[in-house]
Amino acid sequence: MKTLKVADVLKSEQYHQEIAVNGWVKAFRSNRFLALNDGSTINNLQCVIDFENLPEDILKEINIGAAVRIKGILEESEGAGQRVEIQVKDIKIEGVANPEDVKLTILSPKRHSLEKLREQAHLRVRTNTGAAVMRLRSKLSFAVHKYFQDNGFYYVNTPIITGSDAEGAGEMFKVTAMDLKNPAKNEDGSINYKEDFFGKETNLTVSGQLEAETFALGLGQVYTFGPTFRAENSNTSRHLAEFWMIEPEVAFCDLAGNMDLAEDFIKYVIGYVLENCDEDLEFLENRLVQEDKSKPQAERSDMLLRDKLKFVLENNFKRVSYTEAIDILKSSKPNKKKKFKYLIEEWGADLQSEHERYLVEKHFKCPVILFDYPANIKAFYMRLNEDGKTVRAMDILFPGIGEIVGGSQREERLDVLKEKMAALDIPEEELWWYLDTRKFGTCVHSGFGLGFERLVQFATGMGNIRDVIPFPRTPLNAEF
Ligand code: 4AD
Ligand code: MG
Repeated sequence: MKTLKVADVLKSEQYHQEIAVNGWVKAFRSNRFLALNDGSTINNLQCVIDFENLPEDILKEINIGAAVRIKGILEESEGAGQRVEIQVKDIKIEGVANPEDVKLTILSPKRHSLEKLREQAHLRVRTNTGAAVMRLRSKLSFAVHKYFQDNGFYYVNTPIITGSDAEGAGEMFKVTAMDLKNPAKNEDGSINYKEDFFGKETNLTVSGQLEAETFALGLGQVYTFGPTFRAENSNTSRHLAEFWMIEPEVAFCDLAGNMDLAEDFIKYVIGYVLENCDEDLEFLENRLVQEDKSKPQAERSDMLLRDKLKFVLENNFKRVSYTEAIDILKSSKPNKKKKFKYLIEEWGADLQSEHERYLVEKHFKCPVILFDYPANIKAFYMRLNEDGKTVRAMDILFPGIGEIVGGSQREERLDVLKEKMAALDIPEEELWWYLDTRKFGTCVHSGFGLGFERLVQFATGMGNIRDVIPFPRTPLNAEF
C-alpha cells in the first residue's frame, strides 16, 4: 500500500481505496475526528476514528502534536469543511506528545503571538503560520534559481570566510581559531594574526559581490545565493545579523540593463509564488486580515496580500533619480511640518527608511527604483557619472519593506577606481585581485543584491523579518 502525502490525498478521487498517511495530530475532537497534517499543505486531512473499537490506551495517546501512522479507506466526506476523509482502519502512535507538556508550548490550540512563537522557533514550523511561511520561502528560493538558470546565469558560491573587509557594506564578525584567553600578540600588544589559522585577519562575508564580479568577467552572467553576515546593532523588523542575499552580476550591462534585470527578476519570482503557492497565500492573506482588525484604521492595509503581489506584477516600477527624490522630499508635508526624524535640508543627504517609505507608500504608491546617488554616500566601486558627483547606483524600494535591492553599475576604469580607493584609504594591496580584473579585459558591468528575507517578508506579508527565517540571528539572540 502506498503512503500518500496529505496534499495528494486531499486532491484524490480514488474513493473506497485503502491508503496510508503519516503526520502529526493537529486536533482531535469527540474522540472521533482527527485532523492530520504532514507539512505537505496548509490543509488538514480529516481522519475518522472508530473509537468504540480502538483500545483505550491508544485512544488516550491521540493528542495534539503526536506523530501517527494511519491506514484507512478514502471516502467522500459528508461533513462540511472537507471533500474527502479517511475512515481509519489502523492507527499507530509513533511519537506521543504529553498534553500537559504541549499546553506549555505553542502547539497548544490557543492562539499565540508571533513573539511567543519566536521563543519556540524549534516548534514554530508546526504551526500553520510558521509552516506556510517556510513552504513559501522554499518555493521562492527555487524560483530564484529557476529564473537565473533559465536565463543563462551560472550559480557561483563565493566564500563565506573572507580575507578582505574592504567592501564596507557593514560591520563584520571576526573569524578566528585563536585562543581568545591567550591570543598571540605583537610587541606593541596588538593581536598577531600571522599566528592565526589563516595567517591573516579574516571575517564572515557581508556580500559576495566583489568575488562575483571576477566571475562575471569570465562566465558573463552569474549569481550568488548565500548567507551574509553583518554585525550591526540594528534591532529593527528589517535587519538580521545573518541573512541570505541574492547577487547577480552581469558583464557588458549598464545601469539601465541592471534595473531591467532586477525588475524582471522580482516580477518573475512573485509571479511564481502566486501561481504555485495559492493555498498558503490565501491562509497568510486571511491571517493579515485578522491581524489588521486589531490595528487602528490608519495602519490597516488597503490591499489584500495577493492583490498587493499582483499589483507589483502588473505595474512598472517607478524610476526616479536621487535628485528628483530629494526635491519631492524637501517639499513634502512631513518635511515641512518637521515630522521626519531626519529633515531633508539639501542635496547630498542620505535617505533614511522614513524617507524611502514616504516615497513608496505615500508619494508614488508603487515600487520605486532610485538611481544616481551622490558618490559620497555610496560604496567605492560604483561607476562615477560624468557630473563627477553622482554614481550609477540604484536602490529598489518596496511598500512596507523599504529597501529590498541595492546595486550599481561598477567602476570599470582602473584609474578612477584607484583614485576612489585612495580617497577612502582603501589599501590597493588588499584588493589587488579586484584591481586586476580592471587590467585584463575590463568591461562595463553591473549587478545588485536582493535581501532574500525582505523578499519573503513582502511575499508573505509578515511584518517582522524574524518570522521569515527559520532561526533568526539578531543582537543578543543566537538561540538554537
Ligand atoms: O545594499 P546592500 O548593502 O548591498 C550590497 O551588499 C551590495 N554588495 C550588493 C550588490 O550590489 N551585489 O545589501 C543588499 C540588500 C539590501 O537591499 C537589503 O535588501 C538586504 O541586502 N540587507 C539586509 N537584509 C536583512 N538584514 C540586514 N541586516 C540587511 N542588510 C542588507
Ligand atoms: Mg543598500
